[in-house]
Amino acid sequence: MFKAVATPLRRRESNTEFTPAKRTADGQSTSETCAKLVKTANGSSMRGHSLVAIGQLGLEDVAEIMRTAGQMHELVKCSGGDNSLKGKVLASVFYEPSTRTNCSFQAAMLRLGGQVISVNESSSSVAKGETLSDTVRCLECYCDVLVLRHPKAGAASEAAAAMSTPLLNAGDGVGEHPSQALLDLYTIIDELSASSAALAADSVRALKSELSGKVITMVGDLKNGRTVHSLAKLLSRFEVVLRFVSPESLRMPQEVIQQCSTGAQWTQHDRLTDDILQETDILYVTRVQKERFANLDDYNEVKDAFIISPATLAKMKATARVMHPLPRVGEIDPRCDQDPRAAYFRQMRNGMYVRMALLRLILS
Ligand code: CP
Repeated sequence: MFKAVATPLRRRESNTEFTPAKRTADGQSTSETCAKLVKTANGSSMRGHSLVAIGQLGLEDVAEIMRTAGQMHELVKCSGGDNSLKGKVLASVFYEPSTRTNCSFQAAMLRLGGQVISVNESSSSVAKGETLSDTVRCLECYCDVLVLRHPKAGAASEAAAAMSTPLLNAGDGVGEHPSQALLDLYTIIDELSASSAALAADSVRALKSELSGKVITMVGDLKNGRTVHSLAKLLSRFEVVLRFVSPESLRMPQEVIQQCSTGAQWTQHDRLTDDILQETDILYVTRVQKERFANLDDYNEVKDAFIISPATLAKMKATARVMHPLPRVGEIDPRCDQDPRAAYFRQMRNGMYVRMALLRLILS
């Protein structure tokens, strides 16, 4: 059974009873579907486990998360949520700013009937010099799951080692952001598949088939962007083609490249050429992370290296999609927002369904 954060989750055949229901013509689910949704997640192998790095998850776990997220999407449409996590408390601990991750985890817990307590660096005894380990050991006395964002890579692993309550890494510096990678995967499948993500990712085989041969181009700050680190590691376990496009100084770290080399095909570029745009299925754009630069001149030199405009989209396939973990600070022209291929706001919404799924699977 999974315990240490560095150990992969136990691989096993899916045991969920739920069969994802097809959406009706008007996109609504049947009441029968709603009734089944309550039964999901019993006996998940993720129960009680932390999620610090994306590599901890087996492909069966990933498929289970995708399937459950699809169910959570239906549940929210049917009834807004349920009381499956009634009596459970989530501690939201954010030492770095966040809009999406923090609020979507909190909304996810509330929609499942649980409750939330939250602290940040200035409102907790960290301001008095308390260590991270002592802080989380304190908070686990009051909660059933802890969500941590921290500016230091490795902080989530350090905190998880100090606790016995499950911890979800909500971004540790330039390290990882595993729940973002899962919501990105859900979005990729949902956007590129003819059916809902819950159907398209019903099994590992279905997931592999949906992703096979897809060209995913990551552009921007690949050095400091934790979202692309986790996503590249996750995608490299499928037969996808990865294009890494960045200025020389913001290349994907070697550690991530090494993991990609075990699975996917990948190439590295310093220009977003027309050829790359034309073959791309998913253009994953990232912000140049000003807060990670020691020298402002270095930031100014690369901050506008890639700006996606309607002219960029004009070179892409009609079926392609543009994604971004957000926030954006100029790298996607707002005029792109009207293009149906702009998926970044739908991606942001999917974050709540995926985090509802994670909480269900870990706490149910
Ligand atoms: N995508 C993401 O992590 O956004 P926030 O920083 O707003 O949480």
